Amino acid sequence: MDLRHRDVALRELMDDPACDPAALARTLRRFDVVNRAVSGWGTVWRRRLRPVLARLDRPARVLDIGSGGGDVTARLARLAERDGLSVTWLGIDPDPRALAVARERARPDVEFRSTDSTALRATGERFDAVISNHVLHHLGEPELGAFLADSLALSSGIVLHADIERGRTAYALYAAGILPLQRGTFLRTDGLRSIRRSYRAPELRATLAGHGEWHVVRPAPFRVLAMGRGRG
Ligand SMILES: C[S@@+](CC[C@H](N)C(=O)[O-])C[C@H]1O[C@@H](n2cnc3c(N)ncnc32)[C@H](O)[C@@H]1O
Repeated sequence: MDLRHRDVALRELMDDPACDPAALARTLRRFDVVNRAVSGWGTVWRRRLRPVLARLDRPARVLDIGSGGGDVTARLARLAERDGLSVTWLGIDPDPRALAVARERARPDVEFRSTDSTALRATGERFDAVISNHVLHHLGEPELGAFLADSLALSSGIVLHADIERGRTAYALYAAGILPLQRGTFLRTDGLRSIRRSYRAPELRATLAGHGEWHVVRPAPFRVLAMGRGRG
């Protein structure tokens, strides 16, 4: 497997509108376990998001762009509640199939809405923080520019875009580790394709350089995090 360059021609099975809906729903539901294991959001919550929300000293509002099956939004809502912070969460995704699964995870402090970042930006709604998980590697160049600009406009505080970092070890560990969970889902094929599409930290830094001020760090093994300051 040649992982020296991003393989941007690869398409994920779940992006096919005609894919098996039952397998897709199973995949979206099981992301809960996978994202918990690999996404590093526990660390990002503790080190990056919780401190800025706690400093507000009032109820906060956070937007998750491209919330997919909603597990990351719901997990962060549970962490905020556990830590005694008053936060309401909005997850947005234009894909109705993802939204149906996300709504199974709705809570009083979490709403999932069928829209995209550009349409939401046009409504004038603004948030104390804007986040995303596993969206950056998904986007082609024109969509990436709009997505980044929308995320900065929608936030009056921090912007955090988290993703996988491409690499041989990540690829080998995921290929083996996903075996017990993959049955009846697209998790193995799409996860490996995602790794092949994803950025290394220096590539992401170079790509984001033309899109405003972004700081790229590695918050956890095999992870990249692009941090920006909102203009909303
Ligand atoms: C790979 S999925 C990630 C889902 C979820 N965040 C997760 O970690 O499992 C990427 C999602 O981003 C959504 N998306 C892409 N561009 C978007 C935009 N501009 N606004 C809202 N959602 C977007 C897609 O519909 C897709 O469901």
